[in-house]
Amino acid sequence: MEDRDGMLQELKSQVAQCRRCRLAQTRSQTVFGEGSSVAEVMFIGEGPGYQEDRTGRPFVGPAGELLTRIIERGMGISRRQVYIANLVKCRPTVDMKMVRDRPPDPEEVQTCTPYLLRQIGIIRPRAIVALGSPSMKYLLKTSSGITKLRGTWGEFNGIPVMPTYHPSYVLRNGGEKSPLRRDVWEDIKMVLEKLGWPLPVLHSGGDR
Ligand code: URA
Repeated sequence: MEDRDGMLQELKSQVAQCRRCRLAQTRSQTVFGEGSSVAEVMFIGEGPGYQEDRTGRPFVGPAGELLTRIIERGMGISRRQVYIANLVKCRPTVDMKMVRDRPPDPEEVQTCTPYLLRQIGIIRPRAIVALGSPSMKYLLKTSSGITKLRGTWGEFNGIPVMPTYHPSYVLRNGGEKSPLRRDVWEDIKMVLEKLGWPLPVLHSGGDR
């Protein structure tokens, strides 16, 4: 029987040693990704931020809290049932002082994504949610913007890809009450439909 957990563990050890690009000089540690090795849905973000770099786990800062709510309240499943990863495994910052985050540049994406490809190849999800523009551009090989393509299915190596807004973008544009949250919810509903999963019942408050 194939040992997906073992393969992911081995890859994680390789990533932890990686010094292929300059991000290795400023990271505290690599952020490999986490979740179920048999996940049917994978979420792919940009790259680690401050808190991810500190903890070694993806999406644990404010954007991560929103993503967790999208998964748990919006999809009705636990975060442990999905797989969460990033395009790049080390935190990109504006300068060596490591104060401000930035998106990974094209060279960093090119250097790092063989690791992501391997993760996708091991997990073989039935659907991928591309969180934000860099992830969407890489997976769908497009130069279109996220506002244009969100809510429409694309494909990566035969796997359906749903682009949606990055949780940080939602938080920057209205926070908890952002109107973009409705768009994200529409996109997530399409993922649930594609997977044949039921829409979760809301028990209180009614706010996803
Ligand atoms: N933003 C991302 O794209 N990834 C993380 O892991 C955290 C914030």
